[in-house]
Amino acid sequence: MKLENDLLLRTARGEKVERPPVWLMRQAGRILPQYRALRGSLSGFKELVETPPLAAEVTIQPVDELGVDAAIIFSDILVIPEAMGLTYEMVEKKGPWFPKTIESLADVKNLGSGENVIGELQYVFDALAITKKELNGRVPLIGFAGAPWTIFSYMLEGSGSKTFSKARKFLYQEPEAAKLLLEKITDTTIAYLKQKIKSGADIVQVFDSWAGILPPHQYSEFAIPYLRKICEAITEVPVIVFAKGAWFALPELGALDCQVLGVDWNMKVGDLRGKHNIQQVLQGNLDPCMLYASPQVVRSETLQMIAHFGGRHICNLGHGVYPDTPLENVKVFVNTVKGSSYS
Ligand code: CP3
Repeated sequence: MKLENDLLLRTARGEKVERPPVWLMRQAGRILPQYRALRGSLSGFKELVETPPLAAEVTIQPVDELGVDAAIIFSDILVIPEAMGLTYEMVEKKGPWFPKTIESLADVKNLGSGENVIGELQYVFDALAITKKELNGRVPLIGFAGAPWTIFSYMLEGSGSKTFSKARKFLYQEPEAAKLLLEKITDTTIAYLKQKIKSGADIVQVFDSWAGILPPHQYSEFAIPYLRKICEAITEVPVIVFAKGAWFALPELGALDCQVLGVDWNMKVGDLRGKHNIQQVLQGNLDPCMLYASPQVVRSETLQMIAHFGGRHICNLGHGVYPDTPLENVKVFVNTVKGSSYS
């Protein structure tokens, strides 16, 4: 089906466009009263994720309410460990928790991987198909997955962590088991993203949320090769790689075969094209906390960001929007981008 608004895809392909497209990481979620109402009527987060018509409904909410230039399928990166054999729970007000974690090579060997396990995720593919149909071509649909290193971290820690010392310890004590696990996650992720694309994703984003906790040499050894393999395997649609906090890895990220590089607010925009000579289209990078400022400041900072990037840019925050962000300011952000023009 032809898209009415394909600005995101044209931008990702590097075409010259009239203005930058805009969407927000975590746009489908607690910033929206419609989301909170639906979520409150359910048993929990997983019920929402695993019920395709409801996942489709919350995916479309930000398109209706905010007028963003893309929808991102409502799901979570943790469905991949679950399909491989480690179930997760989403504990209210705390976040994800895995009753069983990876502790040894034997545990790694016991996990399923690749095309064999993605049948477990039919509910995600169904949610994409329903969303695609209900969007009826209004905007592109973004599919996503966690990067292997970030998924690995959850599989070893069993939850979020301040230090990630369990995940990082494993890299030093069991490097070969770590690599086997990263391979298995990578193969599963590739099969998963390909099926998401077949189910309707027009573009995909890979979230390496915990990139910034590794020393550079370990990021080169335990993260980059797996990102590279994913980028090389996904040839059907544009790929966005977002490696949070990985400014130290810019030369390697810049060499990935992905069309778009997501950047957080720790990166100096001028340095990306200048000093680091990044060629990909860039996505980002307003500080999510800037959305707590006055609407006037939100507007001026947004315009300044657009000017700083100066084209080949997708407007977004530098990470997910925080749940208590004033909705009015989110709208000012989106509307400021939509009212802008390169000329
Ligand atoms: O709008 C979107 O961006 C699509 C939905 C989306 C969710 N999770 C829904 C969600 C996406 C893209 C994710 C990815 C995700 N999940 C990441 C990578 C992005 C990032 O933020 O770095 C990570 C690290 C996770 C793991 C995760 N899921 C955590 C740490 C938490 C708890 C923290 C929190 O925000 O509550 C979740 C839960 C989660 N995933 C919620 C949502 C809307 C909140 C659950 C609820 O409704 O109570």
